[in-house]
Amino acid sequence: MVMHANTLEAFQEAAFRFQSDTARLQLRLEKQPHDVPGARLEFERMVESLLDAARALETEAVHAPELVRRAQAAFRELNASVLSRSWLIDRSIKKPRGYPGDHALLDALYTGRTVHGGIGKFLDDRVLGCEAGRAVVARMRFAAEWLRRRLAWNPTAKIVDLACGPCRLERELLDAGAGERAHWIALDGDAEALAFAERVLGPHAERVQLRRENALRIARDRGASPLVAGADYLVSLGLFDYLPRHIAVALLGAIRRSLRPGSELLIGNFAEGNPSRAFMEWFGDWPLIYRSEKQFLDLFREAGFPQDGLSLERESDHGIVLLVTGRVPGSGRIKEQQQPGAVAAS
Ligand SMILES: C[S@@+](CC[C@H](N)C(=O)[O-])C[C@H]1O[C@@H](n2cnc3c(N)ncnc32)[C@H](O)[C@@H]1O
Repeated sequence: MVMHANTLEAFQEAAFRFQSDTARLQLRLEKQPHDVPGARLEFERMVESLLDAARALETEAVHAPELVRRAQAAFRELNASVLSRSWLIDRSIKKPRGYPGDHALLDALYTGRTVHGGIGKFLDDRVLGCEAGRAVVARMRFAAEWLRRRLAWNPTAKIVDLACGPCRLERELLDAGAGERAHWIALDGDAEALAFAERVLGPHAERVQLRRENALRIARDRGASPLVAGADYLVSLGLFDYLPRHIAVALLGAIRRSLRPGSELLIGNFAEGNPSRAFMEWFGDWPLIYRSEKQFLDLFREAGFPQDGLSLERESDHGIVLLVTGRVPGSGRIKEQQQPGAVAAS
């Protein structure tokens, strides 16, 4: 592949321009703090122009992913002093827990955490307001509603949240009085996430069993996984976006063997075509494994879920997160009606 030197040069120029323009804007904001709306507009234009150059480079270098990764890293290094002003972008780049979307970052999306002012605030607001930021919150609400409907007629259900992170889902439901008699098990591989979740759960903490468990270990289980065994419902959000195909299939297979007959699971995965992808990757070093509807549904089929028990939804109209409900074969108490908007998988 012949890489157009012009496209690379154009991107380098855009990266340098972003550096000098944002430095100038930050100074202006410090001198004229009242002009926030004008400065914000200007900042948005700077980001969009940088992303245009980044996308042009991606298109040109479609067969040279290493070159794209190097250009991304160089952009972030050059602009580190600006990017580190944003709490959300800084955490996503530095990855203190080893990956970008950790429990604290997810919780910041739920609570709308930002720094107080300047360009850092513009960047934080951009993360919260971008399609992916809003989709994370909406997918949690979708899962809460999914569970709330089931708990309404099965109030003592055993529910497993795999890769629970901050447990905002549980907090929302329990605050609303749903699931008070349910048997909640929240699993996460990161002890720090569990300690954080305990604080988020606050007054409900004793209702939820928080357990450290690695999903990769469950994926390797040949039999039933003891913590998941016999559950009525299993939810997992923000995990499959990081799992390669063979691990995702193995994990779904292990879950299918562990859940009781007639039980259901709800799994999320960002869909192909996330409009925030370039922003996440270039600014936040936050790549995900995106899947088409077919690719995602195929994981379930390969793991032995029958076709007629699968349905696919999204977190909202024109949403960008795929949410698959799967039913474990066998007779059970579960005869939940299909949610409005649910389409049987094809
Ligand atoms: C993107 S967050 C999602 C948290 C939560 N499900 C939500 O949507 O708010 C991903 C979570 O998965 C956990 N995690 C990542 N890899 C894991 C693994 N192999 N086993 C268990 N948990 C894992 C992380 O510790 C983190 O809390």
